[in-house]
Amino acid sequence: MDSANFLLSVFFFFFTSFPSPSTSSPPFFPPEALPTKSGYLPVNPTTGSAIYFAFYEAQTPISPISKTPLLIWLQGGPGCSSMVGNFFELGPWRVNFNKQKTEPISLIPNPGSWNRIFGLLFLDNPIGTGFSIATTKDEIPKNQYSVSRHLFTAISSFIELNSAFKNRPIYITGESYAGKYVPSIGYYILKKNPRLPYDKRVNLVGVAIGDGLTDPITQVATHGLNAFYSGLINEKQKEEMEVAQVETVELIKLGKWSEATNARFKVLDLLKNMTGLATLYDYTRKSPYNTDLVDEFLSFKKVKRVLGVNESMVFEGCSDVVGEVLNDDVMKSVRYKVDFLVKNSKVLLYQGQYDLRDGVVSTEAWLKKLKWEEIENYLGVERKIWRVGDELAGYVQKWKSLTNVVVLGAGHLLPTDQTLNSQAMIEDWVLEKGVFSDGDDDDAQVKKASSFNDFGLW
Ligand SMILES: *[C@@H]1O[C@H](CO)[C@@H](O)[C@H](O)[C@H]1NC(C)=O
Ligand SMILES: *[C@@H]1O[C@H](CO)[C@@H](O)[C@H](O)[C@H]1NC(C)=O
Repeated sequence: MDSANFLLSVFFFFFTSFPSPSTSSPPFFPPEALPTKSGYLPVNPTTGSAIYFAFYEAQTPISPISKTPLLIWLQGGPGCSSMVGNFFELGPWRVNFNKQKTEPISLIPNPGSWNRIFGLLFLDNPIGTGFSIATTKDEIPKNQYSVSRHLFTAISSFIELNSAFKNRPIYITGESYAGKYVPSIGYYILKKNPRLPYDKRVNLVGVAIGDGLTDPITQVATHGLNAFYSGLINEKQKEEMEVAQVETVELIKLGKWSEATNARFKVLDLLKNMTGLATLYDYTRKSPYNTDLVDEFLSFKKVKRVLGVNESMVFEGCSDVVGEVLNDDVMKSVRYKVDFLVKNSKVLLYQGQYDLRDGVVSTEAWLKKLKWEEIENYLGVERKIWRVGDELAGYVQKWKSLTNVVVLGAGHLLPTDQTLNSQAMIEDWVLEKGVFSDGDDDDAQVKKASSFNDFGLW
């Protein structure tokens, strides 16, 4: 929606909607919690399919807006809505997930929001996910190339919404299954840019993947070992896990993609059964992450209206339809795209210490396989202790364009668990500060002098 209509609808909402709150009345949506802009970015003008976006401008930018970095967030799944990231993890206002059962649902400010000094754009990707519209099931992407094509169209039209967006440095970020989307759209942009006129290019500077699934054939083989050395299973159980893991790897090698996806689910199911954990997303949790609160919050008509969504739309945190359409894609590796990105942009990988699905061990395993002339140097460089204020926050290993972070005290939904540290991490990585700077690297000066744009992208 355009901003005039948007403001009108905000007004309309505020002058019509709150009587005395009760548990059944719609939750309070503070005006300052509204996105700066939200609505739809068409991916196919002839069918009406479109990607839903919610954009939050930087709260206290430290540079002119036209130079302020823009982060784009993609949720995983496949088929999960970035509104989960927005209202549960890293957005400026989140649902009150620590509330008592009887307390009404509401929004509260997030001190660790990722839009403190950067613009933050949430995209419901691919179409069919969250508030995004897929006019037919056939139009939902079945592979990463189609996902990227839609995303590129959406990102390009978002940039065109405002001339001040044109030259802002763009960082694509995301979590979990976005470990597939993030490298794919990054790769697509870098390959496409040189073939486009200057004013149609996307100013991609870096990509960040949190607790990601990127190289499934390598990652699926790590669960038994990881759980064993975490003290969660014994040797016999580890062997049983390894049998199931090898089966999955064999199916991948045969190109039996949907069987391989199912075999991976079996591996995870087996681990869950053996350990009795509430969730593999965080082995310290007594109950799963309560992201259902986001579904509940977004089911209110008035909430949908102020977010620029048709009231009749039914919100699902994760779409089974999209999950099913991408079933064959799940086990396909995109590691080669990271090979390209690490040579031509900045790459951040970060994982929560307690994640048993796509965590630290799982990432270390594929990372060392990168085809990059600097990989040996990366593997040999000191892993630094990272503190936020006086407190230990985790560990950072950085060599040139590659940074890998372990975030202590966090599970899969890392910004939910360590909100302030996740904010410090993304800010310092983008701005190359503290342990995220090149420190005493010999070529730090060279690097500072030549921006990434010198790699033939801009
Ligand atoms: C895990 O336990 C459930 C419930 O007992 C069972 O149905 C399922 O088959 C088990 N999964 C595996 C992989 O053994
Ligand atoms: C909302 O969607 C319904 C059902 O698709 C449609 O009939 C209606 O015109 C839409 N409303 C608006 C305001 O677009």
